[in-house]
Amino acid sequence: MKLIVTGGAGYIGSVVGSHLVADGHTVTVVDDLSTGHRDAVPDGADFVQASVLDADALAPVLAGADGVLHFAAKSLVGESVDKPELYYRTNVAGSLTLLESMVRAGVPRLVFSSTAATYGEPQSVPIREDAPTVPTNPYGASKLAVDGMIRDFSAAHGLSAVSLRYFNVAGASGRYGERHTTETHLIPIVLQAASGTRESVSIYGTDYPTPDGTAVRDYIHVDDLASAHLLALGSAAAGSHRIYNLGNGSGFSVRQVIEAAREVTGRDIAAVEVGRRAGDPAVLVAASELITGDLGWKPGKASLQDMIGDAWEWTQRFAAPVPA
Ligand code: UFG
Repeated sequence: MKLIVTGGAGYIGSVVGSHLVADGHTVTVVDDLSTGHRDAVPDGADFVQASVLDADALAPVLAGADGVLHFAAKSLVGESVDKPELYYRTNVAGSLTLLESMVRAGVPRLVFSSTAATYGEPQSVPIREDAPTVPTNPYGASKLAVDGMIRDFSAAHGLSAVSLRYFNVAGASGRYGERHTTETHLIPIVLQAASGTRESVSIYGTDYPTPDGTAVRDYIHVDDLASAHLLALGSAAAGSHRIYNLGNGSGFSVRQVIEAAREVTGRDIAAVEVGRRAGDPAVLVAASELITGDLGWKPGKASLQDMIGDAWEWTQRFAAPVPA
């Protein structure tokens, strides 16, 4: 298929894009490089530097395309609280521009990068797709708005669409990995502490109602995430919008992640206990039976050791040192 990958110079977009190229698809990455990196564009993919807000730039790229995988977005919870306008503009207005452009160009398929943040503080865990969606920050609200838009575009314009709600994505894939100018995610920060580019990792909160008092998350390997995108793309049916959670269905605490990283890297990783980070739920774990049942998706690298091991190898081989 001829596929357009928005945000294909970012972490998840570059990994999924590289899987699509390997699967024989013709891939064009559209990315404005506001947070992505030119050198992360997958080998074998074309590249167009443009924003998803730029309908004039999108029109020629979308002409004749068979589908879009839409990753381009702002994705930091804390930043979304401080700058909601940035999140509503990029994520909501950007996705609307993209959807309108797709309809105009007659592009039939969409796979959208949604998030567990659409659910907010869960009422029960594991979280099912029919759980209430009450986002607790503008990031989650902006992604939920896009899920609603896609549902309505599918009904009105026959678009075949799948939203994948990611839990905590981790690991690396070949030369593609997680590299943010401002790093806020636990595993990259832990690995910076392991490699010495950061003195220590802060544990945000030790008084959560969890077995060891630290917050629990459902970590999923980015290669497993990528395989779900390929299945979703192949399953898209005209006029239907389906939503699937993507997680492993089991949770690991912050302390467990740090301990696993100590084992995998063989390094001392200093950890400092500090207060909770605003807006962090205690436990986020996915029920992922729906995608397993419907699409036959199965994670291949579900252990923390696999995810941290691949991220560590990538950090040592490819990551430019990032100052703490
Ligand atoms: N944490 C620390 N210290 C750090 C960084 C994180 O203790 O230095 C903790 C957090 O408080 C949280 C856990 O580690 O409990 C995981 O934090 P991350 O920042 O790695 O990930 P989040 O769970 O906050 O966010 C992820 C995605 C978001 C998405 C959210 C949905 O990055 O995009 O899951 O659940 F919205």
